[in-house]
Amino acid sequence: MKRVILSLFALSVVAIGSAAPQASDKEALRNANKLIKQMTLREKLGQLEQFITRNGVVTGPEGVKCDIDSAVRKGEVGSFLSIRNRNEALRLQKMAVEESRLGIPLIFGYDIIHGCKIIFPENLAISCSWNIDAVERSARIAAEESAASAIHWTFSPMCDISVDPRWSRVSEGAGEDPYLGSKIAAAMVRGYQGDDLAKSNTIAACVKHFAAYGAVQAGKDYNTVDMSELMFRDIYLPPYKAALDAGAVTVMSSFNDFMGVPASGNKWLLYDLLRKELGFKGFVVSDWKAVNEMIIHGVAADGRDAAELAMKAHLNMDMLGGDYIAHGEELVRTGRISEKLIDELCREVLVVKYQLGLFEDPYRYGKQNLSEVYYRPENMQFARELAAESMVLLKNNGVLPLAEGTKIALIGPFADSKIDQLGAWRGLGEAKRSVTFRTALEERFGKENVLYTKACECGRYKNGLIEGGIEEAVKIAEQSDVVLLSIGLSGWHSGESRSRASISIPEDQQQLLDALKQTGKKIVVLLSTGRPMDIRNEVEKADAVLLTWHAGTMAGPAVADLVSGDKNPSGHLTMSFPYSVGQVPVHYNSKNTGRPAKSQFKAQGYSCSYVDIRNAPLFPFGYGLSYTEFEYSDLKVLTPEVPLGGVVKVSVKVKNVGKRDGVDVAQLYVRDIVAETTRPVRELKGFERLSLKAGEVKVVEFEIPTSDLAYCHSDMSVKADAGDFYVWVGADSNAKLKGQFKIK
Ligand code: BGC
Repeated sequence: MKRVILSLFALSVVAIGSAAPQASDKEALRNANKLIKQMTLREKLGQLEQFITRNGVVTGPEGVKCDIDSAVRKGEVGSFLSIRNRNEALRLQKMAVEESRLGIPLIFGYDIIHGCKIIFPENLAISCSWNIDAVERSARIAAEESAASAIHWTFSPMCDISVDPRWSRVSEGAGEDPYLGSKIAAAMVRGYQGDDLAKSNTIAACVKHFAAYGAVQAGKDYNTVDMSELMFRDIYLPPYKAALDAGAVTVMSSFNDFMGVPASGNKWLLYDLLRKELGFKGFVVSDWKAVNEMIIHGVAADGRDAAELAMKAHLNMDMLGGDYIAHGEELVRTGRISEKLIDELCREVLVVKYQLGLFEDPYRYGKQNLSEVYYRPENMQFARELAAESMVLLKNNGVLPLAEGTKIALIGPFADSKIDQLGAWRGLGEAKRSVTFRTALEERFGKENVLYTKACECGRYKNGLIEGGIEEAVKIAEQSDVVLLSIGLSGWHSGESRSRASISIPEDQQQLLDALKQTGKKIVVLLSTGRPMDIRNEVEKADAVLLTWHAGTMAGPAVADLVSGDKNPSGHLTMSFPYSVGQVPVHYNSKNTGRPAKSQFKAQGYSCSYVDIRNAPLFPFGYGLSYTEFEYSDLKVLTPEVPLGGVVKVSVKVKNVGKRDGVDVAQLYVRDIVAETTRPVRELKGFERLSLKAGEVKVVEFEIPTSDLAYCHSDMSVKADAGDFYVWVGADSNAKLKGQFKIK
């Protein structure tokens, strides 16, 4: 999509990004082929194993007894993950390069998910900025800090679409929409890999978790995934594909089984689709012991079977299971696996090592002066801006922004928690560098104007009300003009393995809110979370709700910027907030069905609805408030009839009708009225962040190539076809302004 914005003040054209070219691909391949000829089978298998070591302590992959140092010297290990110490990484690299027979460098991978030293907001939060350039820049900064730390490969971006907030890993993704998710996935790859993977400040990206991990049944992590191929191609595949098209050189297979076959042994996924159809040329690493877990899934009798399945599915690197190195030689000797296949798997790993420039200079990552790269002031400032752009104002009855000199009662478990604001993945981040809400509010409003108490605990180890917590909270509320109540879920509740059946605010925090409500003071809830929550009651009781997420190192200054009105909130949700957890999965792009509900806001029978609650979520996809108001008008379909292969053009006028400058996200949705297979009631096909001064008007022009309207047909082909479409433009997925166009 290309957008042109015609401003009454200025004219600007937005450029489209493109995939990073891999300049030395051919040379890398030639070199890898030459090297393979000199390698023993065991050395080749070594390249396919990834081990872990903790700061020099000798540990082998579980199930395999080995002395890591001697394995490195023998060339029996190709990669390490999660090395947090640069000296340790360089020690191992030196050993591999100088003491192993062929001197093949190691590749070091780590989870740099939303920042390395500077921690940015969790990924779901960042997606709510709808700021693709900022997404790319955050990945760029993370890459620079990682590369300097001798980590030249990140296990990111996570491209898993999910519509289930019970699944804690929604915090790592970009929400429920494939179109936005694709833009974000591609931007992250561009940010990490830059335009040249061999530079000493770019790192390899890893597209994960392939595939469809976000669709684990009932939101339980690691659970089964089963869906139609049509749904997979329409909703789940696009972000992975976008990341691959942007040039990502590695992929991670997911833990889940997919249509009956665990992803790590799923030849259809890893070979037929990934390599033959999508043209992927890099290498695939398994998720943590996922090869070995195929025994537990019940598709392999033992490690040998598991290795065979994974190799035959074309999975290159075994993360931690140790089955490739333990059984690979026997598999070749007994003819179950050909050495030719091992060569292919090994070649793809070596090619990436060449592309990273590791053969040319194995120490190129990790040479920089760390104090010049870590926590650069301009990057800290950017983290503050991104955190503010990620936060979403969900409700405001006029209490925000706070006037100068307002006396604030700051209450709750996350208001002064350096660790929680960092979220689940913290890279090499340090809690001590976090600036909390408390610190930043004290600075902005004056120490004397901020009274603070924690009142209750929420986290991994401690939970519940602190003795006397409510009393103290009520006391400081009574001494203040407004209550800022920081509640929700902790950083520990985000990320892997934190699935929850209840996504409500914990009961003790509800009690705290109720007690504070009794004081009659205005209450602003600062909602800390890595996922959408069931917050109907809290929204009713509060005067304002600002979704702060886990916004990273600079979360505090960002909150201070927003509540003070120094900045105007501009975030828009990328995942619907349910009206009740019983609605989950609830997402904007559902199908119409043969019996759609007459109203999405009323309970009713004999239609696709509930008889006890409404269908509509509490807050829909795309939703977000500002301190100003934007008016959308004059939707014009500039191309009422477009040939297949052409470009649909739609324009809309947006006016800032309030008194403050602000940023809104204009969103364009379409509906294919009659198609060969059933289509969603709405699909996002364009968006634009618009910065408008008070009173300013801009005309936004959206351009949608008809290829963006492609969908999966019953024969599994993905193509656009002729027909009529509705189009809406507005500030969320309930946009009212409507037009129509035809593809001929
Ligand atoms: C997670 C991955 C992660 C890997 C390596 C796994 O448990 O599922 O997302 O990249 O560990 O740390």
